Amino acid sequence: ATIESGNFEWSAPSNIALVKYWGKKDNQIPANPSVSFTLNNCKTITKLGFEKKPNQDNFSFDLLFEGKPKEDFKPKIQKFLERVEVYLPFLKEYHFTIDTQNTFPHSSGIASSASGMAALAMNFMSLEKALNPEMSDDYFFQKASFLARLGSGSACRSVKGNVVVWGNQTNIKGSTDLYGVEFPYTIHDNFKNFQDTILLVDKGEKQVSSTVGHDLMHNHPYAERRFAQAHENLDQLITIFENGNLDEFIKVVESEALTLHAMMMTSMPYFILMKPNTLQIINAIWKFRNETQIPVCFTLDAGANVHVLYPENVKEKVLQFIQSELVVFCQNGQYICDEIGNGVIAI
Ligand code: PMV
Repeated sequence: ATIESGNFEWSAPSNIALVKYWGKKDNQIPANPSVSFTLNNCKTITKLGFEKKPNQDNFSFDLLFEGKPKEDFKPKIQKFLERVEVYLPFLKEYHFTIDTQNTFPHSSGIASSASGMAALAMNFMSLEKALNPEMSDDYFFQKASFLARLGSGSACRSVKGNVVVWGNQTNIKGSTDLYGVEFPYTIHDNFKNFQDTILLVDKGEKQVSSTVGHDLMHNHPYAERRFAQAHENLDQLITIFENGNLDEFIKVVESEALTLHAMMMTSMPYFILMKPNTLQIINAIWKFRNETQIPVCFTLDAGANVHVLYPENVKEKVLQFIQSELVVFCQNGQYICDEIGNGVIAI
């Protein structure tokens, strides 16, 4: 088929890793497998306009962020197009208008690269499917996740829900380094509508980009042991997802978060992304959990913000705790209520 012009629009959610991806090989191949909850409310919505252009000399695109021209993301998109061109050979035939908005506050310290790259990848895949209509749905979503991975590794876990594995793990059927797959086994009802309240501790620009962070795992003194540990923790989660054991879940998830930050603290150069309030929150969660036996825990990304994870049946009590004891540690008292979700949506 040939197509002159048109547009597509997709929303893609953010995701929160339980077993963390930190360290990669060439071509965005992860050094270890990871698993995440897809989120529901923190999303990027991207509209892709396209129009045939007379020459095929270069990539041509305009970027809009929340309706206004946005120049500073251009190099990132340019790099993405260069990386995926071999998989989407039509890219130089069109001029694109990429119009993006996020449902969460910009510069909140919530990474928008996962949701942003997933939304962009879906749109380009829609064009690819329009040009090659015979492709299967499975192939469509796999290739979309594959492309998202080339934009930002963790973005490949944002295509599907609710629990997504990325990276080869021999005892997880279908798992691959190339794209994210839905967790293929039973998930206990304890994880149904699992909650993630994101406490915005620090909205500042990241001191260390994830690209630099991943690179520091080369020649890292503990890298090999860490990568092996990720496999072990993922293995444990297979059992935990099946039996719903929240005590065991908490141990794995909190240990993964602290290990991620331990890797940063023990790299060369070393750095600390947690803030004093991050530790205040962690200690308050531990105290609350000890006193109430409510199964609430934390995880962290490569930043100071804290994701508070808990089952739906304790939502009211945990929100009350967050409002009375944790909001004081948030920048401008800000937090975002999210929960496990289903992945991308065509609009
Ligand atoms: O997708 P990247 O390259 O920005 O890496 C993100 C890595 C972490 O968010 C820290 C962990 C993860 O698995 O999402």
